[in-house]
Amino acid sequence: RTATIIPAPMTFGQPFTGVDLGPSSMIEEGLPSQLSQLGWRIENTPEVDFATEGREAPGARNSEIVGGGAFKIAELVRTNAGEGKFPLTLGGDHSISIGTLAGMLSNYPDLGVIWVDAHADLNTPEISGSGNMHGMPVGLCTEGMMKDEDLRNIPGLSWLAEKPYKNRLKPSNLVYVGLRDVDLPERATIKRLGIKYYSMYDIDRLGIGRVMEGAFQHLTESNPSRPIHLSYDIDAIDPASAPATGTAVRGGLTYREAHYVAERTANSGNLVGADIVELNPSLSDDKGVAETTQMGLAVVRSFMGESII
Ligand code: ARG
Ligand code: MN
Ligand code: MN
Ligand code: MN
Repeated sequence: RTATIIPAPMTFGQPFTGVDLGPSSMIEEGLPSQLSQLGWRIENTPEVDFATEGREAPGARNSEIVGGGAFKIAELVRTNAGEGKFPLTLGGDHSISIGTLAGMLSNYPDLGVIWVDAHADLNTPEISGSGNMHGMPVGLCTEGMMKDEDLRNIPGLSWLAEKPYKNRLKPSNLVYVGLRDVDLPERATIKRLGIKYYSMYDIDRLGIGRVMEGAFQHLTESNPSRPIHLSYDIDAIDPASAPATGTAVRGGLTYREAHYVAERTANSGNLVGADIVELNPSLSDDKGVAETTQMGLAVVRSFMGESII
């Protein structure tokens, strides 16, 4: 099987520089050869290159840069997935997943998504408190959220209202794992759309084993071979194990829970694409950066099929 590594060093979806160093850090620390050792044939696209200035809409900071960049990512993800390859997109901030979700949904209208994150990223320009677009990828790509007419009025996002990117994620095909910092309008939206979620409370209550069984039961009961995309925000992991990220929140996944989520997803056999995002090598000391980078690599190897035995 072939995986295409798509380095997407986007920073404009949030306030900090440095998150653009995420892809090169993971690649320099050996990601491609580690995946080859797992039996993958690896292809690489050049780093996606992004504009540095543009317009923006109220409530959506840098929308033209972020949205235009997401369009480039969507094109790469769409064409690679269309050729039967596994698109592995390396962020960059989580706004890159506007592109990965749109690109995957254009190939797989019934896509399932596992969103591993401290945050729900379910905001829209209208409800976001920060205007930061890394908090919006799920909000922009999920059914029942944005009107096409509103997308067309946001600089950088009009392509999302046109073919082949009009498919939206069905709320019933989404599962959150690791939530612990969810804005009030996002909470209301999760309830309104009936989205399945396992917060840190649920992980404490059930244990990560039962959480992942529940996640896969939810996504595969009506379609055992449903294609699944994994979007893994490194801030899902507890800052004790992954401190180098822009919006760290205490009380996250342990080292083993973080691996288990990825391992169980690989074992499903349903995974067709993935993102790893929000590694920011400028936000911690050398030790913290090394730990976070190694954590990112280990998680990627795990969802790409590395097993203990
Ligand atoms: N909910 C907050 C916001 O919308 C934080 C989002 C953090 N997102 C992330 N991908 N780290 O601003
Ligand atoms: Mn997050
Ligand atoms: Mn918050
Ligand atoms: Mn996120």
